[in-house]
Amino acid sequence: ESPELCFKYVILGGGVSAGYAAREFARQGIKRGELAIVSREAVAPYERPALSKAYLLPKSPSRLPDFHVCVGSGGQRFRREWYTENGVSLFLNTEISRADLASKTLTPANGRAFKYENLIIATGSSVIKLSDFGIEEANVKNIFYLREISDADKLIEAIKAKRKGKAVIVGGGYIGLEVGAAMRINNFDVTMVYPEKWCMPRLFTPEIAAFYESYYTNKGVKIVKGTTVVGFNPNSSNGEVKEVRLKDGKVLQADIVVVGVGARPLTSLFKGQVEEEKGGIKTDTFFQTSIPDVYAVGDVATFPLKMCNNEMRRVEHVDHARKSAEQAVKAIKASEDGELIEGFDYLPYFYSRVFDLSWKFYGDNVGETLIFGDKNPNSKEPKFGSYWIHNGKVKGVFLEGGTAEENEAIAKVARLQPEAGDLEQLAGKGLSFALKI
Ligand code: FDA
Ligand code: NAD
Repeated sequence: ESPELCFKYVILGGGVSAGYAAREFARQGIKRGELAIVSREAVAPYERPALSKAYLLPKSPSRLPDFHVCVGSGGQRFRREWYTENGVSLFLNTEISRADLASKTLTPANGRAFKYENLIIATGSSVIKLSDFGIEEANVKNIFYLREISDADKLIEAIKAKRKGKAVIVGGGYIGLEVGAAMRINNFDVTMVYPEKWCMPRLFTPEIAAFYESYYTNKGVKIVKGTTVVGFNPNSSNGEVKEVRLKDGKVLQADIVVVGVGARPLTSLFKGQVEEEKGGIKTDTFFQTSIPDVYAVGDVATFPLKMCNNEMRRVEHVDHARKSAEQAVKAIKASEDGELIEGFDYLPYFYSRVFDLSWKFYGDNVGETLIFGDKNPNSKEPKFGSYWIHNGKVKGVFLEGGTAEENEAIAKVARLQPEAGDLEQLAGKGLSFALKI
């Protein structure tokens, strides 16, 4: 028996892109024993977005196997058995601690090393911790982060133990807004804290943010803006968090703290071995890295975004994880046949769902913005949106509360980038502009 496990293709990471890459390999045709997925997680690839939404609900929460890939984009669900049936070797609970691209070897802390001919790096991101900002948190219990299902399970245990307690949410980005809503639905007394003037500043305009902030306030969520956390006071008897100290001197009571202050692509295994750019692993339009036979997909890839003059971009969203994985596998298979596939022409797409709300964004959020529609948070069914206009063209569109048809229309606008014309008129036309494109 060889000391190493040898595979033609190895996917490192068992998240969203790994699952969609496996599906594409199966579609293109692979022999039994050619493909391995190596994952630190204990379960087969799943749709990560569920963790901050339906997974946390108090009533009929979503549980595996419900949200294994590839169900998130309307496909067949791949339970653990799918991999066995399709001859894919799925190594779970296996964390790679060393990667040597020169000898094409991945070594776990324990157990046999993996040898590959082609590697797809799909390690995703890890959470940024408050301790990264020098905040002491290690010895305080009930401070949670959310990335993997094991993190979500710990949070759920605490939700059950601290029923109707007080939750402080640190961060006003995706995790903050989604988990803040989930904690409120779980009947917690919720306070959100973030340093910026408005929530989700990397996408939301002040007008968009104002709607969500009022909506949250109406739901009973308290929002503390323009300050950050500086420390925690634990309960001296059990070490559980009791108070959250803020920079502005305020002190908030807390039974549970959930932190969402950003993510960082997991590239550390490959430092110095592969070219990087903008914090990620640099790839071409086929997600091939600077090392032949090594591809990088999902959150870790910095790739040329064709619709933005091939500007190098990294995207930390699920739609991109799925599509970049498919592109890489198609490119690998085509190159084996001496063929070339089309370059990746991605239309950025982000979304979120909180309470009864649901928004989508397509395109590029550059340039001037204008808002349209009913953005009254007290309306029964608010529906509003925003256009981003750059060099006279509509480059990005946001829509809250859209129907399937309307969402398709805004995607089309972001793709075609029509002339915006007079901005006041455009604001007046609102969604009807998109529906006529
Ligand atoms: P992903 O994180 O999915 O997978 C990485 C895998 O690699 C993990 O299984 C990890 O354990 C494994 N791994 C890492 N290092 C390893 C090592 N050394 N050895 C072995 N395994 C290793 N996006 C969106 O568009 N809409 C949404 O609603 C949401 N919601 C959402 C909720 C939550 C809670 C999170 C954390 C994220 C989202 N996202 C999202 C973002 C989206 O989930 C994310 O962009 C994709 O999961 C990225 O897919 P990847 O495959 O790149 O990484
Ligand atoms: P994020 O980048 O969306 O938000 C980070 C937020 O942290 C900032 O908006 C800011 O408010 C806050 N912040 C930064 N420094 C801080 C500090 N010192 N103290 C307090 N707050 C601070 O990151 P996230 O919300 O943590 O999400 C993590 C990852 O998960 C991202 O890749 C994100 O794209 C992904 N995600 C996506 C979705 C979605 O697309 N719907 C949902 C959940 C998670």
